[in-house]
Amino acid sequence: MSRMSTLCLLIALLCLVGCSAKEAPVTETPPPPPEAAAPPPSTEVTDDELSYRNEPLLDDSGTPAAVFDSPDPGDAQMENRAFENSPPVIPHNTDDLLPITADENSCIECHLPEEAADVGATPVPASHLYDIRRDKQLDSLNPANYSCTQCHAAQASTGELVENTFEPYYRAKEQKEKSNLLDTLNEGVE
Ligand code: HEC
Ligand code: HEC
Repeated sequence: MSRMSTLCLLIALLCLVGCSAKEAPVTETPPPPPEAAAPPPSTEVTDDELSYRNEPLLDDSGTPAAVFDSPDPGDAQMENRAFENSPPVIPHNTDDLLPITADENSCIECHLPEEAADVGATPVPASHLYDIRRDKQLDSLNPANYSCTQCHAAQASTGELVENTFEPYYRAKEQKEKSNLLDTLNEGVE
């Protein structure tokens, strides 16, 4: 083969390679792998963040001492119900009245209906003389209501420990000062 034809062949070959390289399908760059989902924000609440007192939960050094200094029974001013049919708070002191034991419960000495009028105390409401579970009227206090301070709380002078913007709503004005749970218990159910 002459030099000339070798050269021509070379050029032709180069051209062929060059052209075919141009025509080769453009390989698209693969999409980047999806980013790993960010871990959900931590829902952990530490002991230090839990307290409404804005101090570590286990440190009560900033808590004012609770002073239970309400007047004696008979001298106290009754408080409005915190909300409709909430257990009223105990407005008088409970000095010498606690603990309530199986043998001794001074609360019932003044608050059972047969005693209450004589001492000027509010008698226990109808719900405390009724077995709601068995739908049965009882002759006396339902034993489930025997441990009064389980629901009725004595009051201490502490001021407002944390801001509270709760506003109660009473369907009837008198329910600010009176209970009627047994009458309204099944409202909306029956
Ligand atoms: C010596 C009688 C007497 C004893 C004992 C007594 N109370 Fe009272 N209680 C009263 C009187 C009277 C009132 C009304 C407020 C006042 O005059 O002090 C009252 C008010 C209450 C009220 C508020 C009722 C309302 O309508 O808001 C509750 C709740 C209460 N007492 C619970 C108790 C509990 C619980 C005990 C036992 C730890 C108890 N009481 C022991 C006489 C007594
Ligand atoms: C299981 C919780 C619970 C226990 C225990 C309990 N009460 Fe109540 N009490 C309530 C609730 C709730 C109300 C208000 C709704 C209702 O029952 O009518 C109430 C209401 C009252 C009222 C207001 C009555 C009125 O007409 O406004 C008095 C007084 C009372 N209770 C006294 C007592 C006494 C005294 C004891 C212990 C012998 C006692 N309670 C035990 C939950 C309880």
